[in-house]
Amino acid sequence: MSQKIQELEILTPDDWHVHLRDGEALSFTVPATARCFARAIIMPNLVPPVVGVAQAEAYRGRILEHVPADSHFEPLMTLYLTDSITPEEINKAAASSVVHACKLYPAGATTNSQSGVSDLAHLDSVFAVMEDVGLPLLIHGEITEAEVDIFDREKQFIEKHLIPIHKKFPKLKIVLEHITTADAVDFVERTSSSVAATITPQHLLFNRNDMLVGGIKPHLYCLPILKAGRHQKALQMAAISGNPKFFLGTDSAPHARNTKEAPCGCAGCYSAPFAIELYATIFEQLGALDRLEGFASRFGAEFYGLPVNQSKIVLQRSEQTLAEKLPYVDESGIVPLAAGSPLHWKLRS
Ligand code: DOR
Ligand code: ZN
Repeated sequence: MSQKIQELEILTPDDWHVHLRDGEALSFTVPATARCFARAIIMPNLVPPVVGVAQAEAYRGRILEHVPADSHFEPLMTLYLTDSITPEEINKAAASSVVHACKLYPAGATTNSQSGVSDLAHLDSVFAVMEDVGLPLLIHGEITEAEVDIFDREKQFIEKHLIPIHKKFPKLKIVLEHITTADAVDFVERTSSSVAATITPQHLLFNRNDMLVGGIKPHLYCLPILKAGRHQKALQMAAISGNPKFFLGTDSAPHARNTKEAPCGCAGCYSAPFAIELYATIFEQLGALDRLEGFASRFGAEFYGLPVNQSKIVLQRSEQTLAEKLPYVDESGIVPLAAGSPLHWKLRS
């Protein structure tokens, strides 16, 4: 019988999709992400959203105030696309050294998406400039029509919107964020190298039965919602495939415990404090620890045209139980993803 490996050294990973929030939350979220990620793509869905280069620069400054002294963590900022974004602002973003992508939220699709895009036709001139200057478009890929079933929203977005956008702007770099379905995996696999996808730990570790059978688990509720087991399996296979179109994006999205355990609970899973350990756990379960480095530390940087990190991290085998609750902005605290579950890896500090 083969001996289980005890240590795994990989190039320092990056998180290509994270929500750090603002204000007091930054003192919790920034150290949690900077703990193991060298860089992260910072989501712009603040209230009000980050819609211009000046706001992105100011937000970046507030984030940097919370980076621990011994860390070189680099926040990569994004702009929030609205119906009124201009091609001039995109040119400004491309010329700035702080903005690395633009995020498309269909209006009403998720947390703080009220100011998102109501009609994609408004954005043709913006997409044309982004294609030209090589600024990636990051997409929350869910249709928002009230009559469309929540479990079908990603598939329908791909058919109705994403395929046409990609056809019209074939060189536009697109990241379909936090994919949740076999349909998204198929789409990304069969399109050109200008299309990629991020995969979260929650969509790899869980499916909708985990969320709904034997009692509702509000801490597994995120958007796009967890799908059926067959979709989870397709995501797992994509993540460990070694295909560079699939890379790590936690979508760590903190909400205080009392806003998740509520009659109308918020969407989002907070995975930052244990993110790389959770990915290592699932990659090991799938017999693919040797594929973790590509997924976590290489493919995203290559897609964004950034250098791969030179430094390394070491994960050590260590049996621990994930905390049930962590401190956050109010006394209710925050419940991390997979709270109370066994974790087999630990980041060596
Ligand atoms: O579950 C989610 N939470 N999905 C999103 O798209 C947004 C995020 C948030 O900001 O809380
Ligand atoms: Zn997100």
